[in-house]
Amino acid sequence: MNVTFRVFRFDPTREAEPRFQEYILQAEPTEKVLDCINRIRWEQDASLAFRMSCAHGICGSDGMHINGVCALACQRLVKDYPEGLITIEPLPNFRVLKDLIVDLDPFFEKHRAARPFLFPRGPEPERERLQSQEDRAAFDEAIRCILCACCTAACPITPQDPEFLGPAALLRAFRYLFDSRDGADRDRMEELDNPHGIWGCKGHGKCTEVCPKEIDVRKWLGRIKKRIHDAKRIAR
Ligand code: SF4
Ligand code: FES
Repeated sequence: MNVTFRVFRFDPTREAEPRFQEYILQAEPTEKVLDCINRIRWEQDASLAFRMSCAHGICGSDGMHINGVCALACQRLVKDYPEGLITIEPLPNFRVLKDLIVDLDPFFEKHRAARPFLFPRGPEPERERLQSQEDRAAFDEAIRCILCACCTAACPITPQDPEFLGPAALLRAFRYLFDSRDGADRDRMEELDNPHGIWGCKGHGKCTEVCPKEIDVRKWLGRIKKRIHDAKRIAR
């Protein structure tokens, strides 16, 4: 089928305004959107800039705004857009570096701020720190996150509050807060207990809607809220 790709183009070092450029491709319905934009770059316009690596939903590098929805280009097929017009823009709410490439430094700074590592609880064991299967299951879903930034880009709070940690960083905080081997739970809860932390989340659920790893982000952020709420109630 003939597919028209309407692609956002902008080089802020040389252009005053962004624009859209159209490319027409003969594509198979089962072809990935990522493969199509690769073909555009190889066959029609080598200047088109975008990130990609694994092409299989693993690395999280090709998050884009495709027909108005944040998604991985390698997980979207041409047949998902039967009208034959696919508009591709960079992830919203991030600064554009070039075309479909955005500056993800603020995203990863917030991820680091969530302290995504273990503060081991108790004395050092002779061998490894064991964890029951039940305890491990508490954050099974959350560790599927590949840090693609789709959730944070789609979250309606992101443009309203630049200091908001955002769903991906909060999900990572959840993963450690609910790890039975971690001993920093009080500090973690204190750090999250503010309007730019967990209470910045108003439960819109856009994160859950767009997550390419089908993580129910809203649900796990709700668990953080409940844990902080319960800890305060007990302390009273
Ligand atoms: Fe991407 Fe989902 Fe992780 Fe958000 S939670 S960064 S959408 S994989
Ligand atoms: Fe790696 Fe799409 S290219 S997730």
